[in-house]
Amino acid sequence: MNRKERRAQKKSGGGGGPVRQVPAARSNASAISDMLLGLGGVQKVVPAETPVAAAVDPVHSALAQLRLGETLATKLDRLQVSLATTPNSESLLYQVARLQVRLDRRADALITYRRMLALDPGHAEARHMVAVLAGEVPEKANEAYVAALFDAFADSFDEKLVGWLDYCAPQHVAVAVRAALGEGKVAARGIDLGCGTGLLAPELRGLVKHLDGVDLSPKMVEKARARKMYDALTVGEIVAELGKHHGGYDLVAAADVLSYFGDLRALFDAVRAALPDDGLFVATVEKGVGARYQAGKSGRYQHGEAYLRKRAAEAGFVVLSLEEIELRKEENRPVVGYVFALRAQETPESQSAKLSATSLDDLVAGLTAPQAAAVAAAAQRMIGKGFSIGWAIDLGGCLAPQAADLRTLAQHLDMVSEDPARSRRAFETGLYDDCDSDAVIAFLENRPDHYDLIMSADPAIVRADPAAFFSAVKIALALAGVFIGVFGGNADALGEAAKAEGLFLLATEPLPDGSVCLIAES
Ligand SMILES: C[S@@+](CC[C@H](N)C(=O)[O-])C[C@H]1O[C@@H](n2cnc3c(N)ncnc32)[C@H](O)[C@@H]1O
Repeated sequence: MNRKERRAQKKSGGGGGPVRQVPAARSNASAISDMLLGLGGVQKVVPAETPVAAAVDPVHSALAQLRLGETLATKLDRLQVSLATTPNSESLLYQVARLQVRLDRRADALITYRRMLALDPGHAEARHMVAVLAGEVPEKANEAYVAALFDAFADSFDEKLVGWLDYCAPQHVAVAVRAALGEGKVAARGIDLGCGTGLLAPELRGLVKHLDGVDLSPKMVEKARARKMYDALTVGEIVAELGKHHGGYDLVAAADVLSYFGDLRALFDAVRAALPDDGLFVATVEKGVGARYQAGKSGRYQHGEAYLRKRAAEAGFVVLSLEEIELRKEENRPVVGYVFALRAQETPESQSAKLSATSLDDLVAGLTAPQAAAVAAAAQRMIGKGFSIGWAIDLGGCLAPQAADLRTLAQHLDMVSEDPARSRRAFETGLYDDCDSDAVIAFLENRPDHYDLIMSADPAIVRADPAAFFSAVKIALALAGVFIGVFGGNADALGEAAKAEGLFLLATEPLPDGSVCLIAES
C-alpha cells in the first residue's frame, strides 16, 4: 500500500490492511540504523492486529508505548544474559546499546558504547554516541559515522521513511522554495545538500533548471543516481563541496540533513558563499530550544528558532519564512521541526570576501566581452604605431585584457560602469588609472571635451537610448577625438543615430558574431 492509500485509509478509519512487519532476524547495521535514525519502535507501535487509525489515538498510543517498553526491556534482559557469556561480541554490544538508548537508560548505554570503543577505537558511530551521551555535544556528526549509517540504510530508506513514517520534509522544502521564488519562477542552478536517495529531486525538478546533489554516503548516492533526476551527483561532504562552487548556485536546498550538524556556522557560511546576492537557501531542521543547538539521545541534533535566526543573520541572510512543521513520525509520535527560507543579502563583507577570493586572472576574465579584441584592434589601427593620445576611457570596463596594449596608445586610461562590483573588480586589477561607478551617460555629460578616445565593448551600454548615448559621447569627445564601440542590432540605424547627434561616421564593420563595430569622430 502506498502512502496516499494509507492516508486515505487513516482518514476513513478503516483498517485491516497489510501492516509491515520487521523480520525477526534483522542485521545489526539495520537495527542500529533504525535507532539512530529515529525509526525504533516501528514494528511495535503499529501492531499487526491494530488498524493504523487506532495507533494515533493518545490512549492507545500510550498503551502501545508501555507494551513496547516492556517488550524492549525483556529483550534487553535476554541479550544481556548472552553478553555475559560472550562479553566481546560487537554485535551483541550493538544491540544492547541500541536498546538502552531506546529505553532511555543513557548511563548504561554510555558504558556499553565505551565497551564497543575499547574493542574498536575507530568505531565512528560509537565515538559519536559516546560524545553525545557524555553530554559533550560535538559540533557535528563525524563523516565516517554518517556515511556508514546511511550506507547501511540505503536499501530500505525510501520504504521506511515514506512508507512507514510519513516523511514529508522534501514536500515542505518544495513548498517553501516555490513561495520564496515567487509564482511561476524557476531557479537556474540548484543543489540538494545531503540528497540521500533523491526524494527531494522530483519535488524540485519543476523549480530549478539544473540540479546537482551531494551526499556522504556512496550507497545513498547510487540510489539517487538511479532516479535519473539530477544533472550531477557527488559523493562528498557538504561544506567541502560548496567550497568548490563560489557563487555557483541560485538555490541551495537541504531536507532533513541539518540534524547531522550541530553548529551551523560553517555550513551557513559555506552556503552563503555558494550563492550570489539574492540567492535562496531552504532547509528543514528538527525543532530545538532557544538560541542553541542540542544533541538528542538518538545522536541527531535539534536547533532552536533563535539559534537559526542568529546564524542566518551572521552569515548574511534575511529570513523570508520560518515555519513549524511535522517532519515525520518517530516511535509513532510526530517529530516537529522547522522549514525555513533564507535570502542571501548583499553585505560589504560578502562583497570584499568575493573580491579578495578572486584571482587576478578571474578578475580579468570577469571583465571580458567577446568584442573587446575588435575594439582594441580598431583603436590601434585608428591611432597608428608610434603615436600616443592623452586620455582614453573604456565604457563598461570590458577591455581589461587589452589594457596593457591600450596603455601604449594612451597616457591615461579610465574605466566607468554602472555596476559598482564591476568597477571595484576593474580597480582591483590595477590596469586602469581611474575606475568610476556611475551612470555612463551622466558620467560622459559631466566631462565635456575630455577624452581623445572613447571605447565601448559592452553592447548593453547603448541599448536603452542610442540617441542619448551618442549625444553624451559627442559631448565628452575632445576635438578630433575618436569613438569606437561594438553593438548588436541594425548597423545602419545605429550609424544614423550617431550622425544625428553630430558624430562623423568613419566606418561600420560587421563582426563574425553578428554584432557591428562602429567608428566615429567628433
Ligand atoms: C535523513 S537523510 C535525508 C536525505 C534526503 N535529503 C531526503 O530528504 O530524503 C540525511 C542525508 O544527509 C547526508 N549527510 C549528513 N551529513 C552530511 C554531510 N556533512 N555531508 C554530506 N551528506 C551528509 C546523509 O548521508 C544522508 O543521506
